[in-house]
Amino acid sequence: MTDHQVIFMPSGKRGRIAEGTSVLDAARQLGVDLDSVCGGRGICSKCQVQPGVGAFPKLGLTVAADALSPFNAVEHRYDEKRGLKAGRRLGCQARVQGDVVLDVPPESQVHRQVVRKAASDRPIVMDPATRLHFVTVEEPDMHAPSGDLERLREALSDQWGLDDLTLPLPLLARLQPVLRQGKWQITVAVDHDSDTITGLFPALREAPVLGLAVDLGSTTIAAHLCDLSTGEVRASGGVMNPQIRFGEDLMSRVSYSMMNPGGDAEMTRAVRDALDALAVELAAEAGVPAEDILEAVIVCNPVMHHLLLGVDPVELGQSPFALATSDALRLNASEIELTSVGAAARVYILPCIAGHVGADAAAVALSEAPDQADDLTLIVDVGTNAEIILGNRDRILACSSPTGPAFEGAQISAGQRAAPGAIERVQIDPATREPRFRVIGSDLWSNDPGFAAATAQTGITGICGSGIIEAVAEMRMAGIVDARGLIGSPEQVGTPRCELTGRTHAYLLWQDGDRRIQVTQGDIRAIQLAKSALYAGARLLMDEAGVDHVDRVTLAGAFGAHISPRHAMVLGMIPDAELSKVTSAGNAAGHGARMALCNRGLRAHIETLVRRIEKVETAIAPRFQEHFVAANAIPHATDPFPHLMA
Ligand code: FES
Repeated sequence: MTDHQVIFMPSGKRGRIAEGTSVLDAARQLGVDLDSVCGGRGICSKCQVQPGVGAFPKLGLTVAADALSPFNAVEHRYDEKRGLKAGRRLGCQARVQGDVVLDVPPESQVHRQVVRKAASDRPIVMDPATRLHFVTVEEPDMHAPSGDLERLREALSDQWGLDDLTLPLPLLARLQPVLRQGKWQITVAVDHDSDTITGLFPALREAPVLGLAVDLGSTTIAAHLCDLSTGEVRASGGVMNPQIRFGEDLMSRVSYSMMNPGGDAEMTRAVRDALDALAVELAAEAGVPAEDILEAVIVCNPVMHHLLLGVDPVELGQSPFALATSDALRLNASEIELTSVGAAARVYILPCIAGHVGADAAAVALSEAPDQADDLTLIVDVGTNAEIILGNRDRILACSSPTGPAFEGAQISAGQRAAPGAIERVQIDPATREPRFRVIGSDLWSNDPGFAAATAQTGITGICGSGIIEAVAEMRMAGIVDARGLIGSPEQVGTPRCELTGRTHAYLLWQDGDRRIQVTQGDIRAIQLAKSALYAGARLLMDEAGVDHVDRVTLAGAFGAHISPRHAMVLGMIPDAELSKVTSAGNAAGHGARMALCNRGLRAHIETLVRRIEKVETAIAPRFQEHFVAANAIPHATDPFPHLMA
């Protein structure tokens, strides 16, 4: 039999293919990534290729104009109805009849690389768990009685090689009308992670199906709604976690559960409702029905994890902080009462690392991939607890450290959450000790002309986490605060802004009539406690790893996005490192969730990686206390910060 040289680009995969073989089959034979939803019927157009013609000296091939069979009737019909781009062919229709070079455009590749959402995001290679499969099902026959489901299974097996798929009950009720509406042609959405049918659509489904990547935080629930074939983010948004009414931080929610019988159930109800409402909101924003959401990936800290699952988090509030389960979970969305999404939608929850280091930290590890780097990287994600990961390709360690909510603006005299009107940036002139600041919602500094008008709407309402960190660091650099954290008197510092309040001093940041925002001695103490805990956690991991410096520091989460590395180091929040190597990873947990949504191989990867991570328990490590006490000084009692001094 005659065969021909076939080369697919950009993969460069090549081989000899028998004359008359379709390009789609040739791709399959050579392991080339060429998409197909309709299974080669010439209707989905996912298999498009662009043949080259002429000499390809680098490939050692000359391609004749008739290397592929001429346009056939199916292609003509498709072109008339939908239009094929000039030069494009349907791979399932075009047949090899000469040596040929075929370009597979990105949209025809299943494993295409998707665009990053933020510059700091790692690229994601698509390999979604949910795939669409178009099949033609035999019509029922009185003489060969069999159920519609049995004939659908037969079709999936014959046409796609898919066997033993589960059809959840809610979809069984839809099967018969969908089959008849589609005249025995049907598109089946399959979750290949659990071999479950998650959607049934009449005829060829051309619209994409969607997935939600959710970062379920204790303060905010943020989600991206993604196209499951391209990875494109169709809508993004967030809502406040309604559990806040039961307690501002995680431990107060655990206490609420301990003190109030049924309190955990109330919080479970609240978070499930909020998640469901967010799915509806994002679907509306994207202009699609919420039932087109067939999959969700959720990352969260252990307390949120348990409350979402309906597990009382009481054990997480006391030693030894036992999780009900640390494994990754594959659930039906209905099991956590997500009722607006597809009736058979699936949920994947990343594994937790330890009792205080949750699936959100696992998502950060997935996104930041310290396991693939030679550099020793310290990753810090600060919420009410700091989750800290240290490692490289040889070894990875993780711990959590009880920083408390001060970094989020709580326990601070004028503290508030990051919201319009909150002071977020602070600078203090070291000569005059006069401050200037910026508030969320305006790009102007407080001494810029037009600042009052620009902030007229929001007002100046308080100071958020990044604002208080910058304020304390600037006060230290301007000599207003000494290394012990004490605010000097007006005489010592040389500014009337240092005011005596009770027995200690406070620094006046802003005043308008009776309204004042000060940084008090109590605020400095709260920040010292929080930063000592963070630093001590990081040092404990460094001790365990046997190192006294790290190559890079990555600040993850909203905290990382807003803190300036220099201020963090001036305060001694993080160990010394070259300032250019201290970077923000943005919302790494959310990005990790999106990666696990778009690429099912990464789920296996993170599950293996989490098993490899060595957990270090700060609560029982004697060295933690020593590090904590020494880290109380600003920046530190004994550790030198050579890069800060440089
Ligand atoms: Fe669907 Fe070719 S595989 S059109």
